[in-house]
Amino acid sequence: MQQEKPDRNNGDTLIQVDHLKKYFEIKKNFYSRPLQVKAVDDCGFAIRKNTVFGVVGESGSGKTTLGRVILRLIEATGGSLVFDGTDLMSLSNQELRLFRRRMQIISQDPYNSLHPRKVVKKLIGEGLQIHFQLSSQEIDERVKQILTSVGLREEHMYRYPHEFSGGQRQRIAIARALVLKPEFIVLDEPTSALDVSVQAIILKMLKELKRDFALTYMLITHDLAVIDYMADYVAVMYLGQLVEMGKKDDIFLKTAHPYARLLIDSVPPPTPNKQWSGKVLSGEIPSPIHMPSGCRFHPRCPYARELCGSKEPELVELQPGHFVRCHFPLDA
Ligand SMILES: Nc1ncnc2c1ncn2[C@@H]1O[C@H](COP(=O)(O)OP(=O)(O)O)[C@@H](O)[C@H]1O
Ligand SMILES: [Mg+2]
Repeated sequence: MQQEKPDRNNGDTLIQVDHLKKYFEIKKNFYSRPLQVKAVDDCGFAIRKNTVFGVVGESGSGKTTLGRVILRLIEATGGSLVFDGTDLMSLSNQELRLFRRRMQIISQDPYNSLHPRKVVKKLIGEGLQIHFQLSSQEIDERVKQILTSVGLREEHMYRYPHEFSGGQRQRIAIARALVLKPEFIVLDEPTSALDVSVQAIILKMLKELKRDFALTYMLITHDLAVIDYMADYVAVMYLGQLVEMGKKDDIFLKTAHPYARLLIDSVPPPTPNKQWSGKVLSGEIPSPIHMPSGCRFHPRCPYARELCGSKEPELVELQPGHFVRCHFPLDA
């Protein structure tokens, strides 16, 4: 089977996802027939412990939906999801609560993710209360400790979110997730809303926290520089599907999918070099309501041939651990 990844049953695997689907039904108006949006369409991969699994693609490619389905924040339409040996799909909401603490999410918008009327101590401490039933003194101690870990200070405990900058708010959101001692964190565009100078500082901190707390990340971003800096493995997503996946070096140095190639080439290198084709990705990602026939990328692909418009390519393993969904993969 194409999506039975070699990592299956490997003791190093924290998350195993197979044939995962999330279809939304939308209606233009009350009387119209529902239309199907295939936001995540048959995705499969394994995430190893203590690694960063990067998911990259343009806006609308299904990254956020994928991250939220994996945490069961939204229910999947189909597929399987195994976290540390437990089949998450089969759990009741009650049973799932035990896993909630172990899997956290940090999303893009530090302005909306923190309740405006709660002080930092409450924002960070309330999860501790729910999951660990600690005394208020113990909660205080843990909140202080975690604030230091994310570069904030004890005196910040009694301030409200609006008293902080965007970067500081993201630190609070990170502290709130970390204080629960999770093993896995979905980082959904964690720095996209921040100034460039602050982005680098937060990413560096996330990297250090990963090491210090033995974390596993799924890092979602449209920014290849972020992927390059953070990720060990990369999955490139296009219209709900994984089109290329492998170790970071496979993706950057042995790029096989034309979409991945164009994404990479759309970012000019900091110093001009001969390898850079200067080609840019043209056109816009089509609506997933009107999925192109054949290969979903073929209308925008400079290398498309006749077959590409009629037959959908499967995800195949080009080299061990390097997967591509293309009838005519590029030579590295
Ligand atoms: N709740 C929803 N209802 C209907 N369509 C949705 C919903 N959430 C996301 N979508 C659609 O699913 C597709 C993928 O969205 P998303 O996962 O947010 O992509 P990304 O994070 O890569 O930008 C988009 O076409 C989006 O419009
Ligand atoms: Mg998104």
